[in-house]
Amino acid sequence: MSEPDIASHRPVLVFDSGIGGLTVLREARVLIPERRFVYVADDAGFPYGGWSEDALRDHVVALFGTLLQDHDPALCVVACNTAFTVAGAALRAAYPDRVFVGTVPAIKPAAERTRSCLVSVLATPGTVQRDYTRRLIRSFASRCKVQLVGSTRLAQMAEAYIRGQTVADEAIRAEIAAAFVEDGGARTDIVVLGCTHYPFLANVFRRLAPWPVDWLDPAEAIARHARSLLPWAEHALHPASADSAFFTSGAPDFATRRLMNSFGLAVGDETFTAGRADPRG
Ligand code: DGL
Repeated sequence: MSEPDIASHRPVLVFDSGIGGLTVLREARVLIPERRFVYVADDAGFPYGGWSEDALRDHVVALFGTLLQDHDPALCVVACNTAFTVAGAALRAAYPDRVFVGTVPAIKPAAERTRSCLVSVLATPGTVQRDYTRRLIRSFASRCKVQLVGSTRLAQMAEAYIRGQTVADEAIRAEIAAAFVEDGGARTDIVVLGCTHYPFLANVFRRLAPWPVDWLDPAEAIARHARSLLPWAEHALHPASADSAFFTSGAPDFATRRLMNSFGLAVGDETFTAGRADPRG
């Protein structure tokens, strides 16, 4: 029997500005059961939706300098549309020996599935403004009418909701209303969840939607992509240490710790030195 491959003991790092990446983590665990996972939430920088592009790109690239050093992951999943659509290329350029799997709005699958050709993308204001998003539409959805809906509040609402706080139906209804378009007798039939926080609210969206639509969550596709890039790591089965979560604030509150524990994540006490300044532009 050959020596265990050292690389097989390296974890998969899942990154987001907050708790949204947990929607991707839960799918990735199913498909990559043999690996240890490290979850990192840049809660000190949350929400990313309103950051300027240059500031966010620099911030995320600097932060990954620390994360790669501290955790030496076998693969990084950037489970954040807002971060990846602006910083994905810069991350790959800055750390060429590392493997990054990104998250971008699922515009291609939406365009393939829609019958009405009316598709909406519900995302943060940052994501809907990105050239990256516009390019996806031009490349894959030119036959569709794509409605971009940038919500300034939904990511925070999802954070509150998943921690057990009440979020008023009216407030959520107001954020999703623009995603429902009627045009010449046709109606939106697919809404792309272009922010990893939103699947936590999917049941509420379904209940409040003016008519039924498909809510497209890319989590499983992202996990499948990550799986395809990672060799099966036999020797890593049943890793000795538990999956863990780290917060750039260094101070997640009780509700957040409890949420992480419910996902089987031990909350680490690491403090972060990179990307600490608040570079919101
Ligand atoms: N979860 C993030 C995304 O997928 C963004 C949330 C935020 O920081 O505004 O876009």
